Amino acid sequence: MARFSTILLTGANGQVGYELQHSLAGLGNVIALERSQLDLSDAAAIRRVVREIKPNLIVNPAAYTAVDKAEAEPELAMAINTVAPGVLAEEAARLDVPLVHYSTDYVYDGAKSLPYVETDSTNPLSVYGKSKLAGEDAIRAVGLPHLILRTSWVYGARGKNFLRTILRLAAEREQLRVVSDQIGAPTWSRSIAEATLVALNNWNEGLNGTYHLTCAGQTSWYEFAREIVKEYELRCESRSWPKLRANVAGIEAIKAAEYPTPAPRPANSRLDCAKIKHDFSVTMPDWREALRQALDDPGFNPGQG
Ligand SMILES: NC(=O)c1ccc[n+]([C@@H]2O[C@H](COP(=O)([O-])OP(=O)(O)OC[C@H]3O[C@@H](n4cnc5c(N)ncnc54)[C@H](OP(=O)(O)O)[C@@H]3O)[C@@H](O)[C@H]2O)c1
Repeated sequence: MARFSTILLTGANGQVGYELQHSLAGLGNVIALERSQLDLSDAAAIRRVVREIKPNLIVNPAAYTAVDKAEAEPELAMAINTVAPGVLAEEAARLDVPLVHYSTDYVYDGAKSLPYVETDSTNPLSVYGKSKLAGEDAIRAVGLPHLILRTSWVYGARGKNFLRTILRLAAEREQLRVVSDQIGAPTWSRSIAEATLVALNNWNEGLNGTYHLTCAGQTSWYEFAREIVKEYELRCESRSWPKLRANVAGIEAIKAAEYPTPAPRPANSRLDCAKIKHDFSVTMPDWREALRQALDDPGFNPGQG
């Protein structure tokens, strides 16, 4: 019997969840549940579903990810991002199976000048960041075999993300204003899913804990937006994509202070990924290369959604 013959996957419709359905399929039978099949704000439902399915592995990419809305809905954010991971961990421990969970750069305050390492102090600035950190703590408190993978700036072909927002705005207007004083690593959802598969293939009981997992390199939102528009334009004609109104010169750099949001963001979101490379031989593509691959993927359609 395969080691992970039955894998329970939450948040099957999310950016990372959708990619995990495909990348984990070679590992075992993936039972991928979307919100309508498993609502993580319902702890009793989590317990019931896990006990019914009896998986050999639980993978939890589902989360309350509306960072600004969370400021007004802290109870719901906490139920999904804090309570649910703790319940999943308890149920996984009961079955004696591991839990893979995802977390965020927003557990840090961004004041460090270098990339963050896993042992750095956390200090989330937002309700979302606090709810995610408390979710990590809830898993660690259960003491089961687990992987917590902190990632950043996730984008992909589906869902709400910066890539799709920039392409939508660039199709609507000639000028865009984008924040240039927050830095991090844009990370393709598929790169996260593929790295998760590598980590699970190399996983053993001795390897546990919290790891940083982002694409390599660093950039600002402003430079990311420029790269998106540049790479889109290179493919536009051959892929028969709609033309954009804004070009790279139409993107203006602004300070975060000029674009206030309900939830503050860390100025430095860079995560050092040496530990996951060392322990699991996970190497991530450079963010520019991953962006090119995401745009070249036949599944990418800028007109969708
Ligand atoms: N997105 C980012 O930029 C980012 C950055 C750093 C870390 N992360 C972390 O990476 C992980 C994956 O994020 P993502 O980008 O894939 O997020 P996403 O695209 O927003 O997907 C989240 C998924 O969670 C589901 N969900 C929300 N509330 C739920 C509930 N009550 N019960 C069950 N499912 C629920 C959503 O369902 P619906 O489809 O029904 O809404 C959605 O499918 C998360 O842990 C997130 O915190 C994300």
